[in-house]
Amino acid sequence: MTDTSSAPVSGKPVSDRDRVVIFDTTLRDGEQCPGASMTFEEKLEVAALLDEMGVDVIEAGFPIASIGDFESVAEIARRTKNATIAGLSRAALNDIDRCAEAVKHAKRGRIHTFLSTSPVHMKYKLQKQPHEVLEMVVASVTRARNHVEDVEWSSEDGTRTEIDFLCRCVEAAIKAGATTINIPDTVGYTTPAEYQALFRTVIERVPNSDKAIFSVHCHDDLGMAVANSLAGLAGGARQIECTINGIGERAGNAALEEVVMAIETRSDVLPYRSGINTKMLTRASKLVSAVTSFPVQYNKAIVGRNAFAHESGIHQDGMLKHTQTYEIMTPESVGVSKTSLVMGKHSGRAAFRDKLKTMGYELGENALNDAFTRFKDLADRKKVVYDEDIEALVDQGIAAAYDRIKLISLSVIAGTRGPQRATMRLEVDGQVKTEEAEGNGPVDATFNAIKALVPHQVKLDLYQVHAVTEGTDAQAEVSVRLEENGKAVTARAADPDTLVASAQAYITALNKLHMKRQTMNPQSAVG
Ligand code: KIV
Ligand code: ZN
Repeated sequence: MTDTSSAPVSGKPVSDRDRVVIFDTTLRDGEQCPGASMTFEEKLEVAALLDEMGVDVIEAGFPIASIGDFESVAEIARRTKNATIAGLSRAALNDIDRCAEAVKHAKRGRIHTFLSTSPVHMKYKLQKQPHEVLEMVVASVTRARNHVEDVEWSSEDGTRTEIDFLCRCVEAAIKAGATTINIPDTVGYTTPAEYQALFRTVIERVPNSDKAIFSVHCHDDLGMAVANSLAGLAGGARQIECTINGIGERAGNAALEEVVMAIETRSDVLPYRSGINTKMLTRASKLVSAVTSFPVQYNKAIVGRNAFAHESGIHQDGMLKHTQTYEIMTPESVGVSKTSLVMGKHSGRAAFRDKLKTMGYELGENALNDAFTRFKDLADRKKVVYDEDIEALVDQGIAAAYDRIKLISLSVIAGTRGPQRATMRLEVDGQVKTEEAEGNGPVDATFNAIKALVPHQVKLDLYQVHAVTEGTDAQAEVSVRLEENGKAVTARAADPDTLVASAQAYITALNKLHMKRQTMNPQSAVG
C-alpha cells in the first residue's frame, strides 16, 4: 500500500503536470435543473466567486433561452476579470448571434454551440439525416467563428454516437474553426474505460485533432460522472466541464470540487493540475447551495458536513495519533478550518465574522451586518447556537437578499378548535399590506394569508420540515417547491418557529417564480 503519511504526495512536480482547463457550468447546466433557478444578482455573485476561485471558463447561461439569461450572461461578461465567459447556443444562426451579443463585452468571450449526433437524437429529436447534421455543424461553427475566436463545439449525446460519424463531425467542426471539442455523455451512460477509449480513438483518427482542446462533460445518471471525467483526461481530454455541488440536469453533472480534489490528492496517478484555489471550494459550495436552495447531502465528498467528521471511537483514536490515519486531505485544503469558538448571545461581531470564515463564508459588510442582527435575535431565543443554525440563517439571508416580497410579521391561532387563523403583514414592492386568512391547519392558514396578499395560481409540489439541530428549541428548516407552467422553483428557510419558516420559504419561492416570469422569453425552447 502506498504510504500517504508524508505530505505532499506527488508523482511529478506540479509544473510538469498537464494543465487542465476547468469549465464551470453551474450557471447553465446547473441552473437548468428543475427548481435550481437563481436570480440575476445571485448569478453575478456566483460568477464573481468562480472567477476569484480560478475557474478558467464560466458558462454563464443560454442567452436565447430568456431575457434574464441574456442579461445575466452579458453582465457577467462585463464584470468578470479573469475567466473566459461562455454562452451556450443551439446550431441555429439566430441563437449564435444572440450568444455573440451577450458575450461580446467579455475580456475573453466564447460561443459554445452544440448539436445532437447520435442516431436516436438525429432521428427523433432533430428529425434530420446525418448529412444534414454535418452541414449544420459546419454552418454553426463558421457563424460562431465570424463573431469570436474562441468557439467550442459539442456533439450532444456524443457517447451514443456512431464513431465514424462522430469523427467526421469533429473533423468538420475543427476545420470550420472550433478551438474546443466537447464530447458529452449527455445521458450519463458511459463507463470510465469506454469514455477513455472514445477520446483516444477520436484524437487518433481525426487528422486535425491537434488543433483543438478536447473536453469532457459528464452526467451522473449512473453515479460515474467524476470517474468518467477523469478517464476522459487519461484518453487525452484537457478540459473538464463540471458544476459546484454537482448540480445539473437529472442526477446532475460531475462535481467541480470532486474532480479538482481528485487531481490534487492523487497527483501520483493523475498527473494534472488545475488553476483552482481549493481553499475556496467550501465557500463556493455553500453559496451555490444557498442561492439554489439545494441542500448538500451530509456525506457528499469534499463539501458534505460529514466529509471531515470522525465519530467512531476507533477513528477518533487514530485521528488523535496521526490525522493521516483517516484523512487523505486536510479540511483546511478545501477551506474548512477547525474552530473552538462557541457562539452565544454574548458573542460579538468580530467573533461572528471569524466563525463565518471558518465555516467557509465570506460576506460583504451589509450581508454580515444583516446576518449578525439575525444571529443575535436567534441567540436570544435559543440556548445554544450551533454551526448548523448559523449556516441556516446565513443561507437564508443570501437567498432573500433581493426579494420583492418580504415578511414583516405573522401571528397564528392554532390548536384543537379550528379553523386555524393567520394574520400576516407583508411588504410587496415597497407597500405594506395586512390580511387575515383561515385554513385547514396553521400551515394552510399561513399559506392562504400569503395568497390573499399576493394573489397567484401555483402548485405546491413539496412541503418538507426538518429540525436543523436537536432539542425542542431547534430551528425548523422548511423546504418548499412551487410549480407554475412546468417551471419549478425551490426555496428553504429556517426559524425556531415552524410557521415563520414555512411562510418565509413560501415567500422566497414566490420571489423566485416572479423573477422567472419576468425574464422568460416566450419564443425560446431550451434544447
Ligand atoms: O449534456 C449535454 O450534452 C450538454 C450540452 C449542451 C453540452 O449539456
Ligand atoms: Zn449537460
